[in-house]
Amino acid sequence: MIEIRDLHFKYHSQTDEVLKGVNLKIKKGEFVSIIGPSGCGKSTLCLTLNGIIPKTISGQFSGDVIVDGMNTKEYEVSEFSKKVGMILQNPESQLFAMTVEEELAFGPENLAVPREEIEDRISWALSIVNMENKRDEFPGNLSGGQKQRIAIAASLTMMPEILVLDEPTSQLDPIGKREVFSVLQQLHKEEKMTIVLVEHRTEPIAELSDKVVVMDNGAIVLQGSPRVVFEKVPILRELGIMVPDISYLTYLLKEGGYVKDIALTVEEARRLFI
Ligand SMILES: Nc1ncnc2c1ncn2[C@@H]1O[C@H](COP(=O)(O)OP(=O)(O)OP(=O)(O)O)[C@@H](O)[C@H]1O
Ligand SMILES: [Mg+2]
Repeated sequence: MIEIRDLHFKYHSQTDEVLKGVNLKIKKGEFVSIIGPSGCGKSTLCLTLNGIIPKTISGQFSGDVIVDGMNTKEYEVSEFSKKVGMILQNPESQLFAMTVEEELAFGPENLAVPREEIEDRISWALSIVNMENKRDEFPGNLSGGQKQRIAIAASLTMMPEILVLDEPTSQLDPIGKREVFSVLQQLHKEEKMTIVLVEHRTEPIAELSDKVVVMDNGAIVLQGSPRVVFEKVPILRELGIMVPDISYLTYLLKEGGYVKDIALTVEEARRLFI
């Protein structure tokens, strides 16, 4: 679904490259999480997935980003808005309409989607984020988690095949975080969407992802299943990344020869001892 080949990028205002030869393949329906120290280029990489880089934000760009067969160099950003939904950190900055319904109708209206179909899409999107009863609400009155779910629903009405989320829960309280992650889980499991999530907490990553990508200083330094990646505790520690507590505990036990594998969840840890 996404193929990134030897991608280099330098912002005009910077002296060093921010992306220094990124290669990455993401399969259709895969849930991929990206993790890495602040400033390593995660958000920049996200902006290359819908062509904003290099089309809107220009700089020194080389390599290829191919999304569903389309090279981002060869198409306009608007052509990717139907394919790639992008959700950012701050839900407030993504909402502007007077009602939830208007918010959700905005994207498809701009594509001249027929009214009836827009209705169907709105109902579907609201049911996925579990907010059918907020259709006529003023988005400003919603909680942070609800706002972010509406931002996701607004993206869904464009029927994208890929959802890219850049730290979507970092400004939310624990309940808001849980609400958003449960929506992502549903989109992955039931709607089979391809999801790219930038997130710094490893617990939700362990629970949700098929693949974890670790970035440092503009490059991918490690990638694989959560089990394969979270086993590399010393490398991750060096980068300031804390694996889930249960994985760390079982990692220490594994090092000591007490268990054969690390665990990603408490349930898995329990099974290691039976
Ligand atoms: N629009 C921009 N113009 C110039 N430099 C930028 C721009 N956006 C980001 N940078 C620089 O590029 C580097 C990578 O930034 P980026 O936001 O991609 O990192 P990040 O991994 O998302 O960090 P964080 O975890 O803090 O969100 C940083 O040095 C940052 O200052
Ligand atoms: Mg960022």
